[in-house]
Amino acid sequence: MTIAVLGGAGYIGSHTVAQLVKAGEDVVVIDSLITGHKAAINPAARFYQGDVRDREFLRSVFSKEKIDGIIHFAASSIVPESMADPLKYFDNNTYGMIALLEVMNEFGIKQIVFSSTAATYGEPKQVPIKETDPQVPTNPYGESKLAMEKIMHWSDVAYGVKFVALRYFNVAGAMPDGSIGEDHHPETHLIPIILQVAAGTRDGLQIFGDDYDTPDGTNVRDYVHVVDLADAHILALNYLRAGHDSTAFNLGSATGFSNLEILKSAREVTGKTIPAEIGPRRPGDPSTLIAASDKARDVLGWTPNYDNINDIIATAWKWHETHPEGFGDR
Ligand code: UFG
Repeated sequence: MTIAVLGGAGYIGSHTVAQLVKAGEDVVVIDSLITGHKAAINPAARFYQGDVRDREFLRSVFSKEKIDGIIHFAASSIVPESMADPLKYFDNNTYGMIALLEVMNEFGIKQIVFSSTAATYGEPKQVPIKETDPQVPTNPYGESKLAMEKIMHWSDVAYGVKFVALRYFNVAGAMPDGSIGEDHHPETHLIPIILQVAAGTRDGLQIFGDDYDTPDGTNVRDYVHVVDLADAHILALNYLRAGHDSTAFNLGSATGFSNLEILKSAREVTGKTIPAEIGPRRPGDPSTLIAASDKARDVLGWTPNYDNINDIIATAWKWHETHPEGFGDR
C-alpha cells in the first residue's frame, strides 16, 4: 500500500507525511516546490517534483509507483491573493483536481483525502458551523475549493472514486520536536506573524479591526494543531480503506479565540512584549468562525491531543525561535 501525498512539502502536507511515516505507511511525495520546501519532506518518503496539472508527470509517477490512495494538499491558499487573481485559483486548484482525477481514473486509484477549508462556508449564519450548513464562499479561494468538492462528488457518482473532504479551520503549531514548521512567503497568518515579531524577524503587528460584533471586538477563530490535523488525514484514509462512503468533516476545536486573546497567549508563551496596533478591517474577514467537529470525533474517532492554545503556540514558537529564517531556502 503506497500513499501519494500531493503538496507533501507544504506546511500541513509535510506534517501529515511525517505522521504517515510514523504510522508505518509507504509514502510518495509529489510537490512543485513553488511554495513547498524540499527540506520539509520526510526523508523516508520518495519525492517527485512536478505540477498536479501536468498529466504526463502524474502518469510517469503513477507508472513507477503502485499508488493505492491520494492525499491532496497541493493548492494555492492565500485569500487576498485569490481576490486579486481568481483565475490562478481556478487553474491551480480546480483545474488541478480535474487533471488529478482523470489520471487517477486511468490508473484505477479510487480513494482521495482532500484538503478543503472553512472558507467554503463563507460568512456563517450560525456558529458552531456544521458540515450540513450552506456553503456560500465569499472569496475565489473558497469557491475554488468548493468546486473541487463538487467535482469529487460527481466523480464518485460516475466513476466510484471515494473521497473525504476535510474542512480545516485555523491551523497552527509545528512538530513538537521543532524539526518542521510553518514557512510561507509571504506570511499572512496571525500566529506566525506574531511569532516573527517575537523572534525579531518582523517589525510590527497590526490587528485587523476591533469593531466586530465579538466580546473584545476582534475576530474569533477556531485553532487546531497541525499534528492533530495530520492525524485526522490518517483516520480519513483508514475510513476510506474500510469501504465507507464519501463525506466531509470539519476539523477544528469547537473553541474560539479572539485575535487579542491569541496575542495575549503569545506574549505569555514567548515572554516577549510583542508590540501591536489596531489597524483597519481586512476585506473578506468573517467575524467569527468556529467549527462543530463532533462528526470527525464520532465517525472517525478523532481525538485532538492539543486543547490548549498556549500549548499550540508553544510548539509554533519552538519552530520560529530555532528557525528565524524558516527553512532558509527563499
Ligand atoms: N490577522 C491580523 N493581523 C495579521 C494577520 C491576521 O489581525 O497580520 C487576523 C485576521 O484579520 C483574522 C485572524 O487574524 O481575523 C486570522 O487570520 P489568518 O490570516 O491567520 O487566518 P484566516 O482566518 O483568514 O484564514 C485561515 C486559513 C483559511 C481558512 C480559514 C478558516 O488561511 O484557508 O482560516 O478559518 F479558510
